[in-house]
Order: sequence, then structure tokens, then C-alpha cells
Amino acid sequence: MKLLAPSILSADFWELGKQVMACVEGGADLIHFDVMDGHFVPNITFGPVLLESIKRHCPLPLDAHLMIENPDRYIPDFVKAGADMVSVHIENTPHIHRTLELIKSLGAKAGVVINPGTPLGALEEALHYADFVLLMSVNPGFGGQRFIPRSIQRLRALKAMVENINPSVLIEIDGGIKEDNIVDVARAGADILVVGSGIFHSEDIKVQTKKLKDMLTFSEAL
Ligand code: DX5
Ligand code: ZN
Repeated sequence: MKLLAPSILSADFWELGKQVMACVEGGADLIHFDVMDGHFVPNITFGPVLLESIKRHCPLPLDAHLMIENPDRYIPDFVKAGADMVSVHIENTPHIHRTLELIKSLGAKAGVVINPGTPLGALEEALHYADFVLLMSVNPGFGGQRFIPRSIQRLRALKAMVENINPSVLIEIDGGIKEDNIVDVARAGADILVVGSGIFHSEDIKVQTKKLKDMLTFSEAL
């Protein structure tokens, strides 16, 4: 089953609770939570306190994408706050085996993230012990960027790598996914599709979530 993961980065924070619940009612599978520290990426967002508030009310699993320096220092805080999935970038996690094992030991699913400019070969070892891999299809830091077209080829190549090394690893993709490309991206091999502005900047979040989820279901029937 293809999973839809709305990213709250593009939400209106005044209305956050209502907007997250609109995603739930529209049939979203996860809520994607972008953590940025102003060092690893130029932007600053939110931390475990916000995640904990969402966890208290939202029935869906929470997926914390850490775009921060020294992620090991904060992983226990995010899992304690209620993150069900935690992912860290291969580019700034020198001891990736230790970090992924730490996430798993705390009871969350462990993911490894790769930026558009990093060769896929950098993932080869990590795929042996990750639960999921997150392919960035924009440079991390901001919502609302354009999908980098080469990401489709990278996704196909990553799918082949995963099948070869560890077929139980799920593939997530993040950045520039909208209704005009979601079916192609799903068919190229993505299992979890993150959508930020493509949901939260629409007129009706619940209707748009349902529309994208239906498109994913349809993509599997093709
Ligand atoms: C970017 C974030 C994304 C972002 C995607 O650094 O990791 O999750 O919210 O937003 P859209 O879908 O607008 O590209
Ligand atoms: Zn993200």
C-alpha cells in the first residue's frame, strides 16, 4: 500500500490542530514533521514540544525528519515525545550504524535520508539496518520548492538497490510532490509520499488529502 504523509511545514500554525485533523479525515497515513536547526539547513522550525502536542490528539503515526546537526543528542527527546519514525541524513551522521540502532532501540522505526546531490552509493551499508530510506527530491530546508526531475531516475535506481540489498526497507520521497506528479513518483518506486504545500496550500485540506490518497490507490491498480 502506498502511504501519504502530509508535511505540516506548510500548515498555517494558527490552525494547526484543525489542519492536522483535516488530513486525518481525508485519509492520510502518517504526519511528516520537519525538524530544522538553522545549521544543517538554513531554516529553523520546531522541536519535540510541538510533536508531543500533536501526539496527544492525532491518531496517526508521526514521522520526524531530522535536519539538524548532532541528531543523536535529540533522538531520545523526539521518541519520548511520540515520534514513531525518525530519520537522519547520511550527510551529517558519521556513525550511521550507531544512530539507526539507537532509534530502533528506543522503539521507533529508523530511517536514513539522502540529499539530491549525494551519490546513492553512500546508502549501501545503511540499507542493511534501516527500516526506511528517505530520498530528497528537493534540497532540504523549505517547503514549496520544485521537484528535481532527476529524482525519478534516482528513485528507480534506489528501488533496485533496496530490492537487492534489503527488500524490507520502505522508500519515502520528500519535496515538490503535487497532484501533477504523485502518480509517476509512486510508480517509480516510492512507498511513502510526503506532500507539504500540495496539501496545506490547497483550498480544502481534507478534500485534497483524499484526492491524493485516491490517486495513490489508483496508481497501484495500474
Ligand atoms: C523540505 C522538507 C519537506 C517539505 C516538503 O526540507 O523536508 O518535508 O515540507 O514540502 P513540499 O511538499 O511543499 O515540497
Ligand atoms: Zn521532510
